[in-house]
Amino acid sequence: MKKDLLCVSCLEPASIWRIFKLSDELMERYDQKPLQNKNILLFFEKPSLRTKVSFEVAINQLGGSCLFLSDLEIGLGSREEVKDVARVLSCYVDCIIARVFSHQKLIELAQYATIPVINGLSDDSHPCQALSDLYTIWKKKGELMDISLSFIGDGSNNVASSLILACSMMGVNITVASPNGYYPRKEVLDKAEGYAKASGVLIKVTSDPEEAARSADLLYTDVWTSMGQEREKEERLRVFSDFQINEKLLSLAKKDCLIMHCLPAHRGEEITDSVIEGPNSIVFAQAENRLVTQRGILVYLLT
Ligand code: CP
Ligand code: NVA
Repeated sequence: MKKDLLCVSCLEPASIWRIFKLSDELMERYDQKPLQNKNILLFFEKPSLRTKVSFEVAINQLGGSCLFLSDLEIGLGSREEVKDVARVLSCYVDCIIARVFSHQKLIELAQYATIPVINGLSDDSHPCQALSDLYTIWKKKGELMDISLSFIGDGSNNVASSLILACSMMGVNITVASPNGYYPRKEVLDKAEGYAKASGVLIKVTSDPEEAARSADLLYTDVWTSMGQEREKEERLRVFSDFQINEKLLSLAKKDCLIMHCLPAHRGEEITDSVIEGPNSIVFAQAENRLVTQRGILVYLLT
């Protein structure tokens, strides 16, 4: 049966560990070209640097071929119905990597496609980012148990949602500090609480970023205004102004606390230039690991 990666919940801890092991193995020997003769379509409705380039490079390194289409060409759900696009593409390519606004479109694409569909970010979730981030934490800390991550910012956005699920599934304690009205979505928290029963992690939501910083081995943030929310930008700048990762917040955390950001970063908004450029920042290792784990994800799903 084909495997999709639409959200973190499509996986279980054992399959995430399998992806991590594959990512490590492929670092040494992707010359074996496990994706030879595979054609992979990247279809993006929103801009991307990391996800697009890391997937394209990974596909090339593994011996596959890729094509890129923007929504101008496909018109998913407008020029043509999602279910028709899914069935036509299944005749031509071996996998679809899609970045979309509506998560529902992704679900429909996967439902009608006979080939794997990978979520390259939707309004609801960003599973490939979360997998890569957990891999980065594992590499930097040597383990995932007894580690505490605090996410400061929009707890309801795609990156936070996938991170909450991945942390609770993989054994990383997670605290989310968000302004009222931007807390993690209920369905995400309910699912995470379910995972926490098995993994034993603690999940906390607060509106106090200082409280969240004090317990943190890792401080994580993302933009306050996600793609598609541009009209809310002014309002968000005001609401999130106390939720910046800056020197003061960092001084409250453990001495060796690491700083994470999925990027792109808006210096002076969710994070200061001095923190992102400072000695605790691992944001570029994080970005580099997107390529490492894309190889693991592709080989896990396609071979
Ligand atoms: N972090 C991330 O997904 O970056 P892009 O939007 O540039 O792909
Ligand atoms: N939350 C951000 C993540 C970008 C990788 C957005 O959706 O714009």
